[in-house]
Order: sequence, then C-alpha cells, then structure tokens
Amino acid sequence: MITLESIDKKYNLGQMTVTALDEVSLTIGEGEYVAIMGPSGSGKSTLLNIIGILDNPTGGRYLLEGHNITNLPDKERARIRNKHFGFVFQSFNLFPELSAMENVMLPMSYAGVSFSQRKARAAELLDWIGLSHRLHHLPTMMSGGEQQRVAIARALANEPDLILADEPTGNLPTEKGEEILQTLEDLNKQGVTIVMVTHNDAQARRAKRLIQLQDGKLHGEVA
Ligand SMILES: Nc1ncnc2c1ncn2[C@@H]1O[C@H](COP(=O)(O)OP(=O)(O)OP(=O)(O)O)[C@@H](O)[C@H]1O
Ligand SMILES: [Mg+2]
Repeated sequence: MITLESIDKKYNLGQMTVTALDEVSLTIGEGEYVAIMGPSGSGKSTLLNIIGILDNPTGGRYLLEGHNITNLPDKERARIRNKHFGFVFQSFNLFPELSAMENVMLPMSYAGVSFSQRKARAAELLDWIGLSHRLHHLPTMMSGGEQQRVAIARALANEPDLILADEPTGNLPTEKGEEILQTLEDLNKQGVTIVMVTHNDAQARRAKRLIQLQDGKLHGEVA
C-alpha cells in the first residue's frame, strides 16, 4: 500500500539544520496495525505527517499503491488525502464553530457528496460511535472522549483505507483512552489500516507491528 524509500526531512534554521527524519525506509501493507514509538523529538509526528502527505519530505520517495506521489501538486495531494486517509490527533482538531454533525459532514463536502447523503452518513457514523445524543453539540460542549469520538467519525467519513492517529489517547483519561483504542482495533478488524503514534507501551504492544524511532532514524522493529 505505502512504500517510503530513504525519506529525509530536514529543517534549515539559519545556520543550523535539524534532521527530523534520516533515511527512513518503510513499507506498510493493507490491513496492518502499526504503532510508532520513540522519545520526544525522535520524528514520530513528522513521519506520520509525511505518511499522511500533510507534509513533504526533503529527500527520498513515497509510493502509494505503486505510484510515485513524492512531488505532486498540493491540489492533487489534498485529493488523495481526502479520498484515502483519515486523521485523528491528540488535540482532536475539531472545528470549534461547527457541531458534531457538521464536523463529520465536512470531509464529505470536499468529496462532492450531496447534502442529504452527508447528513445521513454523519448521523450514522455518530450513532455507530455512541454519540447519537450529541449531534448538534459544539466541541466545547463535549468531553474530551466525546470530541475524540467525533474526530474518529470524521476520519471515517470518506471511508478511508488508512487511519493515521498521533497520540489519539494522549489527552484522555485512561478509561476513555481505552474506548478510543478499542474503536481503532475494531476498525482494523474491519480491514482499515491503522498507523498510530503512542507513548504508551501497553498500547503499542497491542498493535500487530511496532516501529521504533530514535533521532529520526528507524531504530528497530518488532513484528
Ligand atoms: N517546523 C519545524 N521546524 C524546525 N524543526 C522542527 C519542526 N517540526 C519539527 N521539528 C523538529 O524535528 C524533530 C522531530 O519532531 P517531531 O514533532 O516529529 O517529534 P515527535 O517524535 O513527534 O515528538 P513528541 O513525542 O514530542 O511529539 C524535533 O527535533 C523537532 O524539534
Ligand atoms: Mg509528536
């Protein structure tokens, strides 16, 4: 599904170059459940953002289903992202002025889905994730766990092949975090590929594959 070949990410800060990723090569197959671990600053979010084509590498090649997508124009990248990927972040990243329903409907409008279908699918997803009683709530009116469930429903809106999650339980109490993790695991059982950054050992061990980063380098892998 995804092949990264010698991916570099360097930032030039005046005289100094920060190497966030250093020759990372990686293949992620369909249906995998991958956890990424590593110390703070080791490049986990950078790697996740590059896999999700939110960010461009400064070197190397990115192949998606065999197609080189390394240097595509922004518009094309946005189209691929919206069609194939769903994102879940530590800080939820919901639009504060939009209700739960509207947040979930938004990616479908970019995909050209009709209003009535967007509404129906958003309601269905929010119901599936246990939030049918929160459809018209704004993010500020919801708990962290509820907001993260809205974010997962939104990530699922366009039926992605891959969900990218950057410390999805990082801002949640243990019990609520467990619900989120369970939901991601259920999705993986249904065939959705999951790539998750986590600081939590126990969570990482539940993934089918564990990738370790250190100083921007792939530092080992437990299959
Ligand atoms: N926009 C930027 N400009 C300069 N350096 C950056 C930028 N973004 C990230 N970095 C640097 O790249 C390195 C990797 O950052 P990254 O956010 O990927 O780490 P991380 O493993 O996700 O850390 P954490 O566990 O704290 O979230 C860090 O040294 C960071 O300071
Ligand atoms: Mg990070």
